[in-house]
Amino acid sequence: MLQPNVNDSSGGEALLQVNGVTLQYRTPERRVTATYRVDFDIHPGERLVLLGPSGCGKSTLLKAIAGFIRPVEGSIRLSGAPITRPGPDRMMVFQEFDQLLPWKTVRHNVTYPMRCNGVSAEEANRRAEQVIESVNLSGFIDSYPHTLSGGMKQRVAIARAMAMRPYILLMDEPFAALDALTRRKMQEELVALWEAVGFTLIFVTHSIEEAVLVGSRVVVLSPHPGQVCAEINVDHLGGPNSSGEDFQAACRRIHDLLFPSAGEAQ
Ligand SMILES: Nc1ncnc2c1ncn2[C@@H]1O[C@H](COP(=O)(O)OP(=O)(O)OP(=O)(O)O)[C@@H](O)[C@H]1O
Ligand SMILES: [Mg+2]
Repeated sequence: MLQPNVNDSSGGEALLQVNGVTLQYRTPERRVTATYRVDFDIHPGERLVLLGPSGCGKSTLLKAIAGFIRPVEGSIRLSGAPITRPGPDRMMVFQEFDQLLPWKTVRHNVTYPMRCNGVSAEEANRRAEQVIESVNLSGFIDSYPHTLSGGMKQRVAIARAMAMRPYILLMDEPFAALDALTRRKMQEELVALWEAVGFTLIFVTHSIEEAVLVGSRVVVLSPHPGQVCAEINVDHLGGPNSSGEDFQAACRRIHDLLFPSAGEAQ
């Protein structure tokens, strides 16, 4: 079986292949094309960021990778096999803080999906303690969600997804509603967690700085309907507080791709 815990982003077989993917919604009045012929690959252990303006289809793409939506054109393949339904190999963390079960403690929020998927009580408990420690919440393992801050709840949601040992962790603007300080801390903690544990990450944002901080590669999407306008390698650039000018240069480059007319106007 393919192991999710790999920090090898150096070529090799693609874990996920998104080929010519067009995604649509049908409402009684009309058909909305969310993405148009999108192509990209993800290798095991990559941190891929989908970046683009509001409405360009980022969440829709994530839902299609999770298996909730089928492409009307093109294909999405995981380890070579088409994705046809949701599965425990792709866990999603949503933007909302209220995605935890309020009547269950942190421990039982984390163990619950594992128990539903046939993991033994003993193993589920062992994994829960391990992931809760990795998101620095061991002291709150028996607390209920209403006693936690927004950032802490979000870390529980990440721990819950990771405990399932998915091939791919899908995150849809998970830090968007946090204050700037907590958001920065969470971004750094996510990358630290990735370094410690190793998993394949697909992260959606519309913040350029967040994309370069969190990602090893950024796929830039055009406005609605989303098409890939560039793929940019942003690995090893350091953070915005590092001395590296490369970080700022990557942000400027992405900015110019997203707002081509802004540069001309100056
Ligand atoms: N359930 C739905 N029914 C019909 N159209 C939808 C539905 N969900 C999204 N859309 C449309 O699909 C397009 C892409 O939406 P999506 O939510 O994927 O964008 P997004 O890039 O995630 O935007 P944001 O950054 O604001 O979250 C938009 O035009 C939106 O109006
Ligand atoms: Mg969205």
